[in-house]
Amino acid sequence: MDFYEVLEKRRTIRDFSDREVSDEVLKKVLNTAFKAPTNDHLRQLEFVVVRGRENIAKVIAPLARNMAAFKELVAEVDESDDGDKMAMFADALPKQQKMLMQSGLLIIPFFRQLTWPLLRPVEQSSLNYFASAWCALENMLLAATAEGLGTAFHVPVSDEAEKIKEIVNVPEGYEFTCLFTMGYPAENAFLPKQKVINMEDKIHAGVW
Ligand SMILES: Cc1cc2nc3c(=O)[nH]c(=O)nc-3n(C[C@H](O)[C@H](O)[C@H](O)COP(=O)(O)O)c2cc1C
Repeated sequence: MDFYEVLEKRRTIRDFSDREVSDEVLKKVLNTAFKAPTNDHLRQLEFVVVRGRENIAKVIAPLARNMAAFKELVAEVDESDDGDKMAMFADALPKQQKMLMQSGLLIIPFFRQLTWPLLRPVEQSSLNYFASAWCALENMLLAATAEGLGTAFHVPVSDEAEKIKEIVNVPEGYEFTCLFTMGYPAENAFLPKQKVINMEDKIHAGVW
């Protein structure tokens, strides 16, 4: 696939078939995380890979208890009256747990959080570890797309991150960006309407 075609094709897929993703494809995709830019040349990424719906259900159990909190968070941020956004949430909200189990492959991308606690940054660059980890995730999203896979992720809310770190026995000093899944899209996978952006409106010549 041409690179720009990959960019066009990458969409969040929340409905998967049960066709298994091979270890070979998994490793190929994970390898691209280490090609992303990284602060201080660290590349301190680690992946917990969970296969099988039952095993995944155990790891993401804290989500079930938090769905109410997630819905409140969504309601709070929605003061925009944005129809596209609400259509996306209407589809995405009920699928947060199912989408992570359906393909039978869950990946938790961890990164080493040095110096400042993630949730207590003192300046913008304190977030560099986090930013690097998201750059790595974007590489994985694009590589998975190039392999014909769909991707989705859930960003932890409330106490989910702490609970999940305990469940998968992560050493001190590591954080994760999201609960990430990839798999072969279901035939009827729903795609929320994509926003139409006029690039010309987004470019400010010299000053805004
Ligand atoms: C920082 C970030 C957090 C997100 N959190 C979630 C999430 O918790 N659950 C989810 O289903 N999608 C999540 N998404 C996916 C967005 O809903 C999705 O990217 C957006 O609707 C645009 O659709 P597209 O990815 O198909 O282009 C997140 C995306 C980003 C960049």
